[in-house]
Amino acid sequence: MSAAASIPLFAHRPALEPLLPQVAERQRAVLDSGRYVLGPELAEFEHEFAAYVRRRHCVGVANGTDALTIALRALGVEPGAEVIVPAFTFFATAEAVVNAGARPVFADIDLDTNCVTAQTVEGVIGSRTRAIVPVHLFGNPAPMAELSELASSRGLLVLEDAAQAAGARLEGTAAGALGDAACFSFYPGKPLGAFGDAGALLTDEDEVAAAARRLRDHGSDRRWVHSEVGFNSRLDDLQAAALRVLLPHLDEWNAARRRVASLYTESGLGALVELPPETPGAEHAYHLYVVRTPERDRVIDALDAAGIESRAYYTPPLHRQPAMAAYAREGSLPGAERLANEGLALPMGPALDTQAVQAVTTAVADALGR
Ligand SMILES: Cc1ncc(COP(=O)(O)O)c(C=O)c1O
Repeated sequence: MSAAASIPLFAHRPALEPLLPQVAERQRAVLDSGRYVLGPELAEFEHEFAAYVRRRHCVGVANGTDALTIALRALGVEPGAEVIVPAFTFFATAEAVVNAGARPVFADIDLDTNCVTAQTVEGVIGSRTRAIVPVHLFGNPAPMAELSELASSRGLLVLEDAAQAAGARLEGTAAGALGDAACFSFYPGKPLGAFGDAGALLTDEDEVAAAARRLRDHGSDRRWVHSEVGFNSRLDDLQAAALRVLLPHLDEWNAARRRVASLYTESGLGALVELPPETPGAEHAYHLYVVRTPERDRVIDALDAAGIESRAYYTPPLHRQPAMAAYAREGSLPGAERLANEGLALPMGPALDTQAVQAVTTAVADALGR
């Protein structure tokens, strides 16, 4: 981004600003209470977020990556088992599989949703496959009906990576209530973003929730007795207090994000680049607004010169990451390659107005000489 950038990539700060005094007040109460870890604010947030997603259990953990690792362990994915992940997602999805002792297997994404499908997953199921981790990429729900049907016919677990999709819905059901368990990240800038690292995992299964609570607290559910080796990964009460203030605003912010997406469509952007796909029946959370253009690098430079922040997401794809070399396989992954080569995140957030959107579209048109 140039020093003069006036339209930021993450345009959510003005929506957050009016709530900061309330956040500070709630956090001040936590400071006064002296209860910072596994305290009442965390318990309340877990209760409220579970109710929001309509799951029986929410277990707050330190970040979304730990939520995935702990969920895989809590679901009973054994060391050496294979877990299918998209070839195109943030690195943490596959990292968590490795950290849980399992092996990631990469399935291609379909550019009609930017997510894995039953077809791309089916092609990589093997005798050691234990679970599928669909990612609701950029906030767009994966096609969960066909994935769940495939999983149940093959006896596989489904763990949703909903890190980017708090508040998204599919046929009216919240992201996070569409698999055996689900993980969220509350990293700043996510649709529900804390003021530091935070995450959670959700499930309806009592045993999975109990295992996750144990694993986040050193594998212990009784003082000084550790039944397994776990993690130190609790969502701390200062973050939970903030999240409790923000959660009631999530739906209005996501609705505003969807309005911004409509403004981009109305601005004529679709004549210049490929617009982000939406899964049929989905309410997209638009964590990121990622278009595709073969001229990506030229557009980034031109937008930068015009004071507009944009960014390539993500490149290289997972199967070509140096740390994943041991898990890369023969065979092409054309959807992942294409999105890695052409994906471009443009400014998005509840605070963008028509003028800003038009300025972005005009700058893209100028960059492409149209
Ligand atoms: C798809 C996806 N999965 C997992 C994560 C990990 O979340 P965290 O950064 O909270 O560890 C992220 C966050 O960036 C993500 O985008």
